[in-house]
Amino acid sequence: MTCGSIDRLLYRLAFAAAFAAAWLALTAAVCAADEARDFSAAELARIAAHGPWPLASAPDPGNRVSGNAAAIRLGHDLFFDPRLSADRRVACASCHDPVQGFQDGRATARGLLTGTRNTPGLLDVRHRRWFGWDGGHDSLWSASLRPILDPREMGGNAARVARTLRGKAGLDCHYRQAFGKPPHANDPDLLVNVAKALAAWQETLVSPPTPFDRFRDALQRGEAQGVAAYPTAAVRGLRLFLGRGQCATCHAGPLFSNGEFGDIGVPFFIRPSGVDPGRQGGIKRLLASPWNLLGSYNDDATRDNATQTRFLRTEHRNFGEFKVPTLRNLKLTGPYMHNGSVATLREVVRHYSELDEDRLHTDGERILRPLRLTDAESADLVTFLESLSPASPLPPPAVPSVVAACRAP
Ligand code: HEC
Ligand code: HEC
Repeated sequence: MTCGSIDRLLYRLAFAAAFAAAWLALTAAVCAADEARDFSAAELARIAAHGPWPLASAPDPGNRVSGNAAAIRLGHDLFFDPRLSADRRVACASCHDPVQGFQDGRATARGLLTGTRNTPGLLDVRHRRWFGWDGGHDSLWSASLRPILDPREMGGNAARVARTLRGKAGLDCHYRQAFGKPPHANDPDLLVNVAKALAAWQETLVSPPTPFDRFRDALQRGEAQGVAAYPTAAVRGLRLFLGRGQCATCHAGPLFSNGEFGDIGVPFFIRPSGVDPGRQGGIKRLLASPWNLLGSYNDDATRDNATQTRFLRTEHRNFGEFKVPTLRNLKLTGPYMHNGSVATLREVVRHYSELDEDRLHTDGERILRPLRLTDAESADLVTFLESLSPASPLPPPAVPSVVAACRAP
């Protein structure tokens, strides 16, 4: 054997050893990832409960123009129309900006709710049971009527709404097509009709599937590649979410919300003085409203959709409770909480990790305890929460078509 051939042999051995080491490292990593994805039957069932997505939907029985093409187009056009407001400068979209998940990125909204309430995003809004952080509305259409009228929000009124609609080719025609009569300021139905058209359009706002949804579906179908594509850190975060964190008790189901109200110890003081009574104030407001589902504007002849409203009573524990928000689209909808007091998801997780139990004031069942997460666990939980948002920016919403009867000749 020549020295040259010994050199070559050594070189090959060294190459093989390096290759073997790399291979071992790779398989160890893959096995660790596989192990992390080894779910018990109970875990699989709990993960499955957060889908499928999107949810099936039916027309809203309380809104007779739910799903109506003319109403959807009218609702779309009005949502972006500042002429509904007193100073002709504020549209729904001024606060509910489509590219920011239909909210404004501010801690608290301008106008009415300055210093008190954060603007909620409107994607998937049709699936909510109560509207407003305090549940002050029991239908999407009544939640859409309030901002038009409130002097500190848009400050509109029936005369202004009628003026905005009348004689404007598209708006006027779509209104007539949807409601079978012209818009008239003295018509007691006018404002409710406009709110129902706004609701019909908002019902079409559905968020796209997320990395979590793809993982959940792949797991259900036993598709290894789809399961492996979900980051291991997100899997660890998911385990915390379902297990030790008990997050899914309240952030349940495909919407990551049980649709009800809770107290997680977010301070509810309003500067300079006063408190936001949360759900307790919301129930009072709802029961006093002429536009709740117990009233005559509810289009559901069976009144089945009013059952939950009928049995509402304020209890002491409702004081300082706020709606359990959906966790979909969080990447778009910060800052967080009813008053926008928490800037980032990292801080939300810190809130739950270092929870101040003295701040919890409801007498209901205590499921929240400080989690005392390590930095690595906190990062995992944040990675999981981020996986509940679409991976790429959302395109602007499609403009609904003009109905045939309203097309220019
Ligand atoms: C000045 C900013 C602002 C404007 C303008 C505005 N909103 Fe809102 N919107 C908010 C805030 C803040 C809330 C939360 C209110 C609460 O907690 O009671 C809200 C809540 C809602 C909700 C309930 C969502 C939920 O998840 O509970 C709907 C629906 C809604 N707005 C639709 C509209 C429509 C339709 C318009 C136009 C007619 C409009 N908004 C105009 C700031 C605004
Ligand atoms: C007892 C019910 C409950 C439990 C358990 C719970 N949450 Fe919440 N969560 C809420 C409520 C209620 C709010 C809104 C509080 C407010 O605004 O005052 C909220 C707010 C949030 C928000 C802010 C969302 C937004 O859009 O503003 C995030 C993120 C969140 N929770 C994640 C979690 C995580 C992660 C866990 C587990 C560690 C968890 N939650 C456990 C009820 C709960």
